[in-house]
Amino acid sequence: MPTSRLLRRPPTPGLRLRVATAPDWLPRALAALDVVLVDHAHCEKKAAANALSLLQAYPEVPGLPAQMARLAREEAAHLAQVLHWLEVRGLALGRDRGDAYAQGLQALVRTSAKERQLDRLLVAALIEARSCERLGLLARGLPEGGLQALYARLTQSEDGHQRLFVRLAERVHGAAAAARLDGLLDEEARLVQQLPVRAAIH
Ligand SMILES: [Fe+2]
Ligand SMILES: [Fe+2]
Repeated sequence: MPTSRLLRRPPTPGLRLRVATAPDWLPRALAALDVVLVDHAHCEKKAAANALSLLQAYPEVPGLPAQMARLAREEAAHLAQVLHWLEVRGLALGRDRGDAYAQGLQALVRTSAKERQLDRLLVAALIEARSCERLGLLARGLPEGGLQALYARLTQSEDGHQRLFVRLAERVHGAAAAARLDGLLDEEARLVQQLPVRAAIH
């Protein structure tokens, strides 16, 4: 593609979440930042594992294996950075306490092969988008410093990830992707409003 056309090409659209995080989430998260950091480390671990799981499940999708390999590497790097902050603050990773938000979205994944593939990509996009929103809130709420800078960088990175998943879903599934995303955005909004606000990424 000529450079002029590349430059004119609009940025890949991402998705727009339909409800904002409740205003009491940020003060609660800042007041229990150690708990949030431990939960965040588990989120990055699961994001890396999910990228490898998608690679394992869909090696035939053109471009997907390489994209998921790069994503897994990025998420593992995020994990290492968050683990560094756990160490600085004298925190142990401990057991994963689970994530009702992610589980609620996973429960929406349909079972037939084609629908399952689309839903897995879109659920990953939604989780990235919600994580991006919340990491951005932390970046704006934390005092200036290394941790704040980390959250500012990760916000950008997770925004790129949600775009990647939306792009993949649209490339492979065409118009079905937008229609399903519309429904899943409503479900995500409902789930976020249902779940209690807690000191965790989700
Ligand atoms: Fe990440
Ligand atoms: Fe991510």
